[in-house]
Amino acid sequence: MSGRFRRVVTGGAGFLGSHLCDRLVAAGSQVVCVDDLSTGRRRNVAHLVDDPAFILVEAAASRQLPVEGPVDAVLHLASAASPPAYLARPLQTLAAGSEGTRRGLELAHAHRARFLLASTSEVSGDP
Ligand SMILES: NC(=O)c1ccc[n+]([C@@H]2O[C@H](COP(=O)([O-])OP(=O)(O)OC[C@H]3O[C@@H](n4cnc5c(N)ncnc54)[C@H](O)[C@@H]3O)[C@@H](O)[C@H]2O)c1
Repeated sequence: MSGRFRRVVTGGAGFLGSHLCDRLVAAGSQVVCVDDLSTGRRRNVAHLVDDPAFILVEAAASRQLPVEGPVDAVLHLASAASPPAYLARPLQTLAAGSEGTRRGLELAHAHRARFLLASTSEVSGDP
């Protein structure tokens, strides 16, 4: 496993995140998926959970990013993404965009890793 890129994908059990996890694992990266399974589904990554290159950590990125070991990139996709989903959980959506982003940035900074934030309309919405 050593020598592989190690990526943290928040929201990795969601629609976009799960496809991103697929692509990263297929490209040879190790992937730590941090997801609170609020709008995502475990079944979206069920085909990856037995792969030693993939770890699913069930946690809210707005509260904690419990990631041990090296990190090369943090890709922050954790956010409810449709009006019905984010109107049902307005404070959690704001927290994912604010605190989740801050924690992702802190993790990336600590590892001198790249950080990617998925562009999301929810940050300028009206929750
Ligand atoms: N789907 C699109 O077409 C599209 C287009 C552009 C941008 N985006 C943005 O990409 C991001 C992901 O969109 P999606 O369609 O995959 O949504 P999704 O709801 O399918 O996935 C979001 C994932 O984030 C998880 N999540 C939410 N809050 C969390 C938190 N605090 N901690 C950990 N996990 C959390 C959910 O459980 C889910 O698995 C959103 O920011 C969205 O606005 C989506």
